[in-house]
Amino acid sequence: MALWPLVLFTLGLWLLIRKWPLLRLGMSLAGPWAFPLLGNAQMVGKLKPEFIFLVFTELRDRFGATYRLWLGPQLWVFLHSAEETRQALHDPTLRKAETFLQLEPLIGNGLLISHGAHWTRQRRLMTPAFQPNILRGFAPAVARHVDALILKLEANKGASLEVTDPLFACLLDAIVETSMGAQLNTQSQDHSPVVLAFHRSSELLFKRMINPLLASDWIFRRTQLWRDLREQLQVIHTLMDSVIDRRARDLEKEMGDSPGKAHNLLDTLLLAKFNGESLSRKEIRDEVNTFVFAGVDTTTAAMSFVVYALAKYPSAQTRLREEIQQLQASELENIDALNELPYLEALLKEVLRLYTIVPTTGRQTTQNTVIGGRSYCPGITLWINMYGLAHDKEYYPDPYSFKPERWLDQEDPPPPFSYIPFSGGPHVCIGRRYSLLLMKLLTARLVREFHLELGPLQAPLKLQAQMVLKSQEGIHKTKCASWRRLLVL
Ligand code: HEM
Repeated sequence: MALWPLVLFTLGLWLLIRKWPLLRLGMSLAGPWAFPLLGNAQMVGKLKPEFIFLVFTELRDRFGATYRLWLGPQLWVFLHSAEETRQALHDPTLRKAETFLQLEPLIGNGLLISHGAHWTRQRRLMTPAFQPNILRGFAPAVARHVDALILKLEANKGASLEVTDPLFACLLDAIVETSMGAQLNTQSQDHSPVVLAFHRSSELLFKRMINPLLASDWIFRRTQLWRDLREQLQVIHTLMDSVIDRRARDLEKEMGDSPGKAHNLLDTLLLAKFNGESLSRKEIRDEVNTFVFAGVDTTTAAMSFVVYALAKYPSAQTRLREEIQQLQASELENIDALNELPYLEALLKEVLRLYTIVPTTGRQTTQNTVIGGRSYCPGITLWINMYGLAHDKEYYPDPYSFKPERWLDQEDPPPPFSYIPFSGGPHVCIGRRYSLLLMKLLTARLVREFHLELGPLQAPLKLQAQMVLKSQEGIHKTKCASWRRLLVL
């Protein structure tokens, strides 16, 4: 008699017993109908970037604050309540979602995806480089790059302009100078290979992240996508290696016989010693690439939405300009003076709420844990919908309207962890104060120099969630007329 039915039955029973906690949890949660074995993989595979977070939010409306999707045997649970989010972000047993580990070719084991003792050590090492007194010293260097941006925008003399690319070049130059002491001068180049390499590698990495068929390294490394990515990474790694080598040589000269003093983040990494050992060049490059990757795209996206919102809502622009005109010209480079402007603060907060730059983040359970009173076994992916929280009408009445005023004189403030554009808990964005400094310096100057208007060809924004939230067709055909000099974006 053939033995295979018995073997199959035993295997099935063994799998069922092993996966029972996962199955039981999956069955107890509401979610769309799932095909046997495939689950909802077909639906997730078809999701386009412009729909992902809208679909997740719509599913929330249909299935309640906590719902599930099956990706074959994998269980995804979506958390939408502020309290569950708080608990998940503070749970020390969770790791970053496995999907994020696919960023490894660009950022290695950098802070964004590392965990455990390595993450703790690196986070402790780098936190001092982002303290307010250090950041304050960055303002003059950032202001020089903002000057170059203003000149570039003025030179456009009324012709149509896409704002995202000039903002990206300005922020890349500013972040590289302030965190690594190097001048990239991408603003003065029309087609900078390194800008292109960062754009292309983000796109290619994201394409992989949303395609479950490319999850395996073995498969991915046999695709054209990988060959294209490798080419772009070569450009980035070569540049960063040369920046690191140059600074290492200069530091050695500066130090002589005395112990070195760190002037920026790269110095901190180069001078670090653990048990007498320095960090390897690869470890340093991973962290440096993490900062550029995590910092430039996000702050560019945020500033593009600031420019768009100012152009779209003229009364907000006028109110902000009036507030900024109270400052002396020299105070526009003074972060303490800018921090005293309540409407600027409220406007940036509202932009980061309405256009949630990082719409979702994910965590992986590694052992049994309890979140929001529900027990989770290992191997579950938890998705935190920052976009959904920031657009929940329970927390933010009229959530799709742009209302900076909602952040002024709040009588009934929204609950903690409903507004988390920079995430929260121990993995809260290490660059949050830094990005706010960049945004304040840029916004104040742009509003002071230009009158921003939407051009007649600016189509309604179609948002899409790539690595960060973006406008599908960029932010352009936006008229940007100087209130002193006329200019069209
Ligand atoms: C508007 C601008 C920014 C936004 C919206 C933003 C958002 C975020 C979010 C949501 C996270 C947490 C992800 C998670 O919990 O899984 C994060 C982490 C991080 N961000 Fe930012 N970020 C911004 C700017 C920056 C800047 C300017 C830098 C550095 C130059 C930076 C560096 C990092 C790093 C290194 C992490 C990982 C922190 C850790 O896990 O310990 N970010 N950011």
